[in-house]
Amino acid sequence: MPVTPQKNSDKMNIPFVDLKAQYDSIKTEIDAAIASVLENTAFIGGEHVSDFKANFEKFYGVDHCVPCANGTDALYIAMKMMGIGAGDEVITTSSSWISTSETITQTGAQPVFVDVDKYYTIDPTKIEAKITSNTKAIIPVHLYGQMCDMPAIMAIAKKHNLKVIEDCAQSHLSALDNKRAGLWGDAGTFSFYPGKNLGAYGDAGCLITNDEKLATDCKRYANHGALVKHQHDIEGINSRLDGLQAAVLNVKLPHLSQWTTERERVGKRYLELLADVSEIELPQLRANTLHSFHVFGIKVNDRSKVQEYLQSKGVPTQIHYPHAMPFMKAYAYMKATPADYPNSYDLQERELSLPIYPEMTDEQIVFVADSIKSYFNG
Ligand SMILES: Cc1ncc(COP(=O)(O)O)c(C=O)c1O
Repeated sequence: MPVTPQKNSDKMNIPFVDLKAQYDSIKTEIDAAIASVLENTAFIGGEHVSDFKANFEKFYGVDHCVPCANGTDALYIAMKMMGIGAGDEVITTSSSWISTSETITQTGAQPVFVDVDKYYTIDPTKIEAKITSNTKAIIPVHLYGQMCDMPAIMAIAKKHNLKVIEDCAQSHLSALDNKRAGLWGDAGTFSFYPGKNLGAYGDAGCLITNDEKLATDCKRYANHGALVKHQHDIEGINSRLDGLQAAVLNVKLPHLSQWTTERERVGKRYLELLADVSEIELPQLRANTLHSFHVFGIKVNDRSKVQEYLQSKGVPTQIHYPHAMPFMKAYAYMKATPADYPNSYDLQERELSLPIYPEMTDEQIVFVADSIKSYFNG
């Protein structure tokens, strides 16, 4: 059954994301695509996967797409094939999902965190202080769908001869100066986790690059080190995009532009409706960007009270993320203090993500905004 918003005078059950509504809107095509995978037993490899590679390259205007099992692997594969490993350091943001930093460690390198700016993305003015003779790369994350300051980051990378891998897991179609996320650096990595702006029906991911050698190396590494069956040039890993996920993504990809426009509609409507609520901090949009609004995060004090109140109105919220990476137990060895990463710390303490998805109706958006206002108006 589709999730139907139920409303009485002061309660409306709004989903945080509505994957069922999206499935219902493309059900015929999805069901046919899945049936075709089953009929042809095209579970691993096959035309759905090669079609997705070609479709994504065309859609992004990029020379190479390397499909793989998930967005975490995409980061790991890219770094490994750039030769990053033991003794190296990789600079990244202190606010992201742990995939961004755990994959650095997995290569044998050391993650080095840099605080975020007022847009919640890596602060380029704080990067150079963290560069050492061991630094090999920077991984900017376009968090929540907001573009990082790519011109500044690319200038630093050029000056210090560093690779740049853009983590685009949350920024499908985001753009700065009309240039999309993933096309600025040496490679861009994508997650197609179901809740992402382009989501499969299980785990899936890819990386994109205009570097032919890097693409070939990544393809080989993701396939047990073989470009040709049984010819293992090196040891690699098993990171395949499976046929079912590729078939789902091929159906969804042509809808992505429209869904992104709808997300923008919701995000901008929240900004308009909440503009005069002085108790909250709204996301600021970087100039000349397309923000793909994977997450709409506001900042509030007494977050758990706001969250509880909104829940009582049928408005679910989430926190992205309750621990910035330097403050996770996994990185306790770094002995970070809030003063080291003040903006990421503030984000972890006060961020509150509101429901956002392309199918959200204006009535639902207005209800969320009114509920926030009613909380602050007592
Ligand atoms: C910023 C970021 N990077 C990487 C990933 C990893 O993607 P996946 O879950 O497909 O491995 C995610 C997914 O949540 C993410 O949000």
